[in-house]
Amino acid sequence: MSSSSLSDAASLLHWYDRHRRDLPWRAPPGIPPDPYRVWLSEIMLQQTTAAAVVPYFARFIERFPSFAALAAVPEAEVLAAWAGLGYYARARNLHRTARIVAAQGLPRTPEALARLPGIGTYTAAAIAAIAFGVPVVPVDGNVVRVLARRHAITESLPGALALIHSAAQALAADPSVASRAGDFAQALFDLGATICRPAEPGCVLCPWTRACRARAAGIAASLPRKAPKPVRPHRYGAHFWLADDAGNVLLRRRPASGLLGGMTELPGTAWRSDPWPIAEALKAAPMKATWHPLGEVRHGFTHFTLSLSVFAAHVRHIRADGFLCPAAALADEALPSVMRKCVRLAEQASPGRARPGMLLP
Ligand code: ADE
Repeated sequence: MSSSSLSDAASLLHWYDRHRRDLPWRAPPGIPPDPYRVWLSEIMLQQTTAAAVVPYFARFIERFPSFAALAAVPEAEVLAAWAGLGYYARARNLHRTARIVAAQGLPRTPEALARLPGIGTYTAAAIAAIAFGVPVVPVDGNVVRVLARRHAITESLPGALALIHSAAQALAADPSVASRAGDFAQALFDLGATICRPAEPGCVLCPWTRACRARAAGIAASLPRKAPKPVRPHRYGAHFWLADDAGNVLLRRRPASGLLGGMTELPGTAWRSDPWPIAEALKAAPMKATWHPLGEVRHGFTHFTLSLSVFAAHVRHIRADGFLCPAAALADEALPSVMRKCVRLAEQASPGRARPGMLLP
């Protein structure tokens, strides 16, 4: 049968059978999916690219091979394994969900899945389709782009979502999706990631190239249209690398709730909208010491950009609130990416030693 006589759903599945990405959480063709791997990967893939998720997924599967294994460890261990992946509420919810599922099992419907911590409408649909074959089409950013283009939906987001969800529902009702819901969802993800890319879509290779209305109108690359983004505010802070003679560094744990909740950090100031003059920042230093400025770290969060001044000092013994970590063991701590950048700055000032302050003028 020529692909032009197939429905959209059937032609996409036909394409997927030849071009699917080989990703570590995917069951090979003909092998039933493991719901644990599907759930874990879908939580990790929220707001994160497949390339960034691959090494974390491999490490998690090795250390925590099942819901029961993940449920059995303390939350701090999960946060440490998650460190660097961002959006840390995901890790806390992951752990809570593992404990619920270890006791009660994983539900199979999107509605019941969406009642678990950290599982919204999109993730519930993705898990239901991929793990259990429920004929629903999860609508993530990739799918929004693909469907906005396929149907030349020129209204801006978020207004365009109503039409996009209708188009997704129409696809879910196609008979060829009924027996391959998981493949179909992943085919849409792959189409969006590899061909229907945000910039420079590869339309000549697309299984929907003849049907695509945006391509016919020459507007594919400009869709979906978006309402202008508000400017991201800037915040400022200062953090302190304090090392002692025994090779320890002072750390503390952030409050359990809120941004980076429960994660580890170098002690520091609050993050505020005004820059910190040095003298004021140093009032928040964990101990009296000779503090040396190491430089600045910048980090983009979803809702603001952060600039941190980093200071270092070395003392014989640390007497301050927090806990001591041998410098060589920092990699095992639940340090978020922004704190890893601060640590790297300190380590660059004194490679292989826990005392950058000593080497500075
Ligand atoms: N994005 C979200 N879920 C995905 C999946 N299962 N495969 C590839 N990309 C994804």
